[in-house]
Amino acid sequence: MTSLKTEVGDLVFDNPSILASGIMDETGMSMVRVLECGAGAVVSKSVGLASNPGHANPNFLEVTSGCINAMGLPNPGIDAYGDEMKIAVDKGNVIGSIYGASPKDFVILAEKMQSYGACAVELNLSCPHAKGYGIEVGTDPKMVKSIVEAVKAAVDIPVWAKLTPNTHILPEIGKAVEDGGGDAIVAINTLKAIAIAPEFARPILSNKVGGLSGAAIKPIGVRAVWDLHNAVSIPIIGVGGITNYRDALEYIMAGASAFQIGTAVMDHGPEVFNTVCKGINKFMKRYGYRSISDMVGVAHE
Ligand code: FUM
Repeated sequence: MTSLKTEVGDLVFDNPSILASGIMDETGMSMVRVLECGAGAVVSKSVGLASNPGHANPNFLEVTSGCINAMGLPNPGIDAYGDEMKIAVDKGNVIGSIYGASPKDFVILAEKMQSYGACAVELNLSCPHAKGYGIEVGTDPKMVKSIVEAVKAAVDIPVWAKLTPNTHILPEIGKAVEDGGGDAIVAINTLKAIAIAPEFARPILSNKVGGLSGAAIKPIGVRAVWDLHNAVSIPIIGVGGITNYRDALEYIMAGASAFQIGTAVMDHGPEVFNTVCKGINKFMKRYGYRSISDMVGVAHE
């Protein structure tokens, strides 16, 4: 018998596939749809203290093997987003993604997400295109530790930290999450990128710099999970360019206990969660693995 159940700290999910923040998670009903399509959990849109229109258009484009976005964290603010959370938490595991500029911001947001019924909070310490947020707070290990510590002291639900690959000190930042009492690390967010339209001799995105996601970044994500597995003992959730079951297995074998899918939902629809999980199940039967935990980090042995 094989089982797709996986544990991320104290949380147990029916399968290791999770919707990544930023795709099909603006509304409660879209998160419900993804849960009904077989995701073990979903992560909400990243939400801040106040409503934010995000960056002007153009803020998204497709490139070879991926996409570049500079959405700029558009969201209605934590109070208005509560209604969406309440719709989704009735139907499954919802992780509340939050962004802020200081430990105090993150504490207020995490308390609200807990009150809405989130099963965990994911601290967005990694958005590469929002001034004052994301990587601007998430690449300083001292700041990361104090944010994680403050949120841990304020809520009872698990605290996950989503980290950036746009740094050469990722293991050190991972250690800061662990030292701050964080329950899990999510790696990676998008990579800083620019696309230029030669006809206009200008960057295409209104913000100029965006974040690259999709198949192109998978080997970078797998390497990041590999490095983090060597640096920390808390669970890791892998994300970046997962399109099929083999991609997901790479992350698991590098050290991830679960994985998130984002960009592939745009190409394959929410059915991708079911397809990837079926592929993993078939692989496990064929190669004699009985549980996800049997495979976590095996590539290091
Ligand atoms: O704008 C966005 O919602 C993107 C967030 C991120 O890259 O973390």
